[in-house]
Amino acid sequence: MTAQIISGTEIAKQIREELKQEIAELKDKYNVIPGLATVLVGEDPASQSYVSGKEKTSLALGIYSERHDLPAETTQEELLALIGRLNKDPKIHGILVQLPLPKHLNETEVLYAVDPKKDVDGFHPVNVGKLMIGEPDYLPCTPHGIQQLLIRAGVKLDGAEVVVVGRSNIVGKPIANILLQKKEGANATVTVCHTRTRDISFHTKRADILIVAAGRPKAITADMVKEGVVVIDVGVNRIGKTAEGKSILVGDVDFDAVKEKAKAITPVPGGVGPMTITMLMMNTVRAAKQAAGIA
Ligand SMILES: NC(=O)c1ccc[n+]([C@@H]2O[C@H](COP(=O)([O-])OP(=O)(O)OC[C@H]3O[C@@H](n4cnc5c(N)ncnc54)[C@H](OP(=O)(O)O)[C@@H]3O)[C@@H](O)[C@H]2O)c1
Repeated sequence: MTAQIISGTEIAKQIREELKQEIAELKDKYNVIPGLATVLVGEDPASQSYVSGKEKTSLALGIYSERHDLPAETTQEELLALIGRLNKDPKIHGILVQLPLPKHLNETEVLYAVDPKKDVDGFHPVNVGKLMIGEPDYLPCTPHGIQQLLIRAGVKLDGAEVVVVGRSNIVGKPIANILLQKKEGANATVTVCHTRTRDISFHTKRADILIVAAGRPKAITADMVKEGVVVIDVGVNRIGKTAEGKSILVGDVDFDAVKEKAKAITPVPGGVGPMTITMLMMNTVRAAKQAAGIA
């Protein structure tokens, strides 16, 4: 069996088209323009490129975008003051603080300072708690993107054995939580593995759906999965450069070998990656609708 490739690029494109229409309608009917502010401290090239991508996508969809690039020596007080102003600004519905912050800044305090109603990343403890009890306002972007990939690829989640490899706060724990909910597009039986799991293969071999967010190339090999599994590879690992100097990216799964056993699999790049920014846009639209009292 050679797996169906679940293309995040294609599914993200579909969702962006839907959002574009929704945004145009919001403007026409209600005179509401969703607004996203990005905050970047310092000059990390990867972070700069992520923020540029978010800005570009916002503009392409008709979202008002405001970019705050601050010098690396910005103090905690200055950063908190900016977040305070953005919290009060009615043009801004979503605030995205690009992580990681420089070491001298207290990341937790900064994330907690964002108004939970504008926390389109879904990292504020209020939003984490709301997800846990099944009443989320904003789902964190990467795990939400994974859920959408599965739903839109027609993968049956109800009753499925889902195994998640990785327990980070941004991917592993929230995707486990999302798929565990008593809801359509969820209702799975979820197991979470990590570096202290005794026998990872025992779990991964039972998975109908295997979600891997370990940050280790080839953490999952073909002998660790069953025939017919659906694999979502979240990992992004830079393993070298091409002759032209471009980074070579691979996921956490031994793609070439596992695709011969899997029913469906996401590629890296072009799988989960394109979904993350798209879900940020979806959250920003949701925030604008909530602020305007539109259901
Ligand atoms: N495409 C996207 O949009 C996107 C978004 C976010 C992240 N990512 C990528 O996804 C990967 C994971 O990100 P993250 O932020 O969740 O990483 P992280 O914070 O480093 O967490 C990795 C998790 O995987 C576990 N782990 C590591 N190696 C393992 C192994 N061999 N077997 C079992 N568990 C293992 C760790 O266990 P312990 O807790 O025991 O240490 C940890 O819980 C990274 O490659 C990252 O670049 C992609």
